[in-house]
Amino acid sequence: RKPYVFLTRKMPDGIVSMLEKECVVSMWEKEETPPPVSRLEEEIQKADAVFCNVSDNINKSLIEKAEHLKVIATMAVGYNNIDIKAAEKKNIRVAHTPGVLSETTADLTFTLLMATARRVPEGMDVIKNNEWGAWAPFFLTGQDIHHARLGIIGMGRIGELVAKRGTGFDMDIVYHNRSRKPEMEKAIGARFMEMDELLETSDYICVQTPYTEETHHLINKQAFQKMKRNAIFVNTSRGPIVDEDALYEALNNGEIQGAGLDVFENEPIRADHPLLSLPNVTALPHIGSASKNTRWKMAEMTANHILQGIRGEEIDHEVKR
Ligand code: GLV
Ligand code: GLV
Repeated sequence: RKPYVFLTRKMPDGIVSMLEKECVVSMWEKEETPPPVSRLEEEIQKADAVFCNVSDNINKSLIEKAEHLKVIATMAVGYNNIDIKAAEKKNIRVAHTPGVLSETTADLTFTLLMATARRVPEGMDVIKNNEWGAWAPFFLTGQDIHHARLGIIGMGRIGELVAKRGTGFDMDIVYHNRSRKPEMEKAIGARFMEMDELLETSDYICVQTPYTEETHHLINKQAFQKMKRNAIFVNTSRGPIVDEDALYEALNNGEIQGAGLDVFENEPIRADHPLLSLPNVTALPHIGSASKNTRWKMAEMTANHILQGIRGEEIDHEVKR
């Protein structure tokens, strides 16, 4: 019997044909919505491999239904949506796509940082609403990016590339991380800082940590209270790293200047969410890695992980526990 693979989202022909050479492929037909849980349950029972993404909740009860499953490959670097322990118990290997999306995600972090600092969404609204009267001396004045302090929380692959981008703007770059990164410090000129000092002194604060039990609500009310009043907070990692109610309060009370957000506690965020009523929030629908090139590479890599997993070979990027 050929191995059976379930793809939780419609994939381009090139990716499907990679898998069809060795597997029977079953695919959720839609690109923009995930399958209902009932379909996932039905498929996971039969599947030897699952090709999933950040919006699929691969939890314990789902994994326990699997009868033949050998590999879960997610088209993402973050895998907090997969119950790794439950997978391990059933000897199911988990694969993700680190590295390939780091530059593209760092680009988006900077996009949000700059768009929020220079009030890009507000400027577009002014034009679209026909509210542009005339050039005005202090109209839509934002804050400088160049020579400001960039504080990066979580100095992994993406954090490092955000820091590198900051050097092009002559930023003063500081970071906090579980471990020091001496080579990166030398190469980029970033300085290690204790969390409190980073929060208290940075003009821009970017979180680039994975979402784990330890980083749940890492950025909370106390953290926002420590920040400068001109601070711009940027999150392209995972929503629940931030206490969103506290973020709303901080923005609404003018405790910080603005926020650039690509991720939210509950995705998709809806238009009536309080955060979206604030003019100083730049919000994007979780598109950190969404360049054509990078998404294609991520999909190819994920298909490869599936093939490696069903052949019983070493998987290039297996989640080690
Ligand atoms: C996207 O959020 C990813 O983890 O790749
Ligand atoms: C603005 O457009 C300027 O010329 O200063």
